[in-house]
Amino acid sequence: IINLCVNARDAMPEGGEISIRTELFAPDQAFLDQHPDAKQKPYVLLTVEDTGCGINEKILPRIFDPFFTTKEVGKGTGLGLAMVYGIVQNHEGFCTIASTPGRGTTVKIYLPGIDRDAEKPADSPSPSLSLADKTILIVDDEPMVVAMLKNHLESVGCKVLTAENGKVAVDMFQDNKDRIDLIILDINMPVMCGRDAYQHFIRIKPDIRVLVSTGYIMNEDTMEVLNMGAQGFLQKPYTMKDINARITEILSQDSAN
Ligand SMILES: Nc1ncnc2c1ncn2[C@@H]1O[C@H](COP(=O)(O)OP(=O)(O)OP(=O)(O)O)[C@@H](O)[C@H]1O
Ligand SMILES: [Mg+2]
Repeated sequence: IINLCVNARDAMPEGGEISIRTELFAPDQAFLDQHPDAKQKPYVLLTVEDTGCGINEKILPRIFDPFFTTKEVGKGTGLGLAMVYGIVQNHEGFCTIASTPGRGTTVKIYLPGIDRDAEKPADSPSPSLSLADKTILIVDDEPMVVAMLKNHLESVGCKVLTAENGKVAVDMFQDNKDRIDLIILDINMPVMCGRDAYQHFIRIKPDIRVLVSTGYIMNEDTMEVLNMGAQGFLQKPYTMKDINARITEILSQDSAN
């Protein structure tokens, strides 16, 4: 979305209007003809539209090509739309671009919708262990991750403490070691990283349960923490279903011991 908006901005040096819309889209015959891989299922349609200079018909077919740019050296790499295209492809979606020179450009992204009702049965079998009344310490320097995870865990009844780096987490754990059931630990953080924090945690309470969660595929620090005894690893991004499953798994190991 940022890539598309930056393109729209660049196309409107004198100002103009960018609009971003979302809607549900039911594929019609024309769409299915145009996109043979499309399924007859609802798509979520994201439209980014601008009132900028538009795109010359001649270059329109090359617009998604990597390194295709009309911008001066240093201004554009020509990777913006290629990235958009790649991301949309990875989600089994479709991307179209329509433009009228002098009037503006419309980019449409179709992403397959998720049928929530169809997803429900998998969600509903209640886990053998309830997460309600568990106290979980979230350690992550990314406020968005913390906010989402906290929100989710509180919605299933957990009590949640949060820390924005390893140092804050160690202090907090020192003060609350008897009531914290599990720590969800990021690895790459400022001030004190997850690996160093983990060493403090196990000194304070050797049997503390720790779920390591990072955006990086198993790096050395993550391996080290797991070798030192952390109970689980979950790579970001994860779904709330994933995190529930991992937490339940780790905490039931706990009660079995
Ligand atoms: N909304 C738009 N209006 C007019 N022209 C556009 C628009 N979006 C893309 N283009 C044209 O398509 C070309 C390729 O776009 P793309 O985003 O791939 O690369 P870029 O914007 O040139 O560079 P980068 O995104 O890597 O900084 C642009 O150079 C521009 O000519
Ligand atoms: Mg761009």
